[in-house]
Amino acid sequence: MLPELETIQQEGLDSLGKLQNEVELENWRIMYLGRSSQLMGVFDQLGTLPKEERPQIGRRANQIKQELEAAFQQKSEALRLVSIERSLLADRLDVTLPGRSPTHGRLHPATQTLRLLYRIFAEMGFQIYLSREVETDELNFQLLNFPPYHPAREMQDTFFVKSKVDRGDNPLLMRTHTSPGQIRAMREYTARNPKDPPPVRIITPGMCYRYEQVTARAEMQFNQIEGLAVGHDITFGDLKGTLSDFARRMFGQNVRSRFRASHFPFTEPSAEMDIECFVCRGEGCSVCKRTGWLEILGCGMVHPVVLENGGYDPERFTGFAFGVGPERIAMLRHRINDIRNFWANDMRFLEQF
Ligand code: PHE
Repeated sequence: MLPELETIQQEGLDSLGKLQNEVELENWRIMYLGRSSQLMGVFDQLGTLPKEERPQIGRRANQIKQELEAAFQQKSEALRLVSIERSLLADRLDVTLPGRSPTHGRLHPATQTLRLLYRIFAEMGFQIYLSREVETDELNFQLLNFPPYHPAREMQDTFFVKSKVDRGDNPLLMRTHTSPGQIRAMREYTARNPKDPPPVRIITPGMCYRYEQVTARAEMQFNQIEGLAVGHDITFGDLKGTLSDFARRMFGQNVRSRFRASHFPFTEPSAEMDIECFVCRGEGCSVCKRTGWLEILGCGMVHPVVLENGGYDPERFTGFAFGVGPERIAMLRHRINDIRNFWANDMRFLEQF
């Protein structure tokens, strides 16, 4: 009986190695491990063997059965991998399938406008200065000449982060404009050389937040770019020249601009700058609301109190500042009529830029 078993094992393993596909594999299983296989016949005959041979034969038959089963599993797995590989190969060779075009990412229209502004101001010698979005009341308002409870604060409804209960008259808040960056920048510059501080020529871009009723014209978050120039003998003429030049670089060499008197607590005098409506060339249309002019920024000469709060002696230094809204500029350039589009994340809007 034993030599017979060895033959079964030998033949089984040999033929298994030669199998090519799953049909052959199944036939093999029936032949070597099936109910009516030779091996199973050995188990059936055990009872007829002399008592002393039974344990030895039985043990060996069991071992062989386990070995054949394990080999079968291995072969079955190997054949499965081969067939997957084959189907992948077949797919790769199907040259009739249409190609999948990759989608290109793009920059958000607000980012595009910010970068355009950076480039223009960089050409005019302004460096980028980054300031924080969470501010103290002191920097966002007080040092900019808005005392606590001053009605000018009404212009900029505010999100508070830490309440007055925790911090008295200096609560934490989300900055309502980029102007606190003026103080931070001036203080950093004057710290370098308090006796003879260097001149400043920076823009401070970034997100601002206001507790606004959200409408087509007002969002509760938006970007601003603050500009600040401080030095000796800087005049209102420098402000007008710089900003008119900016308007020409931004909107075209022939664009006309004008300055209207305005009020901000941190500049004196203050102005708002308009450019001639580029849709109707000043005739009056729906974009400029029949005025012929489009408001694009607020500006003014840095208030002496603000210079002093930044560490610059207002007797020796003067400066100008301005604040532009990049989203507003993008709206004018692309005739976008609803500011809510910017942060709504609607691909149909974003894909147009
Ligand atoms: N911070 C002002 C605002 O948000 C804009 C501004 C900046 C005005 C600098 C004058 C000078 O409305």
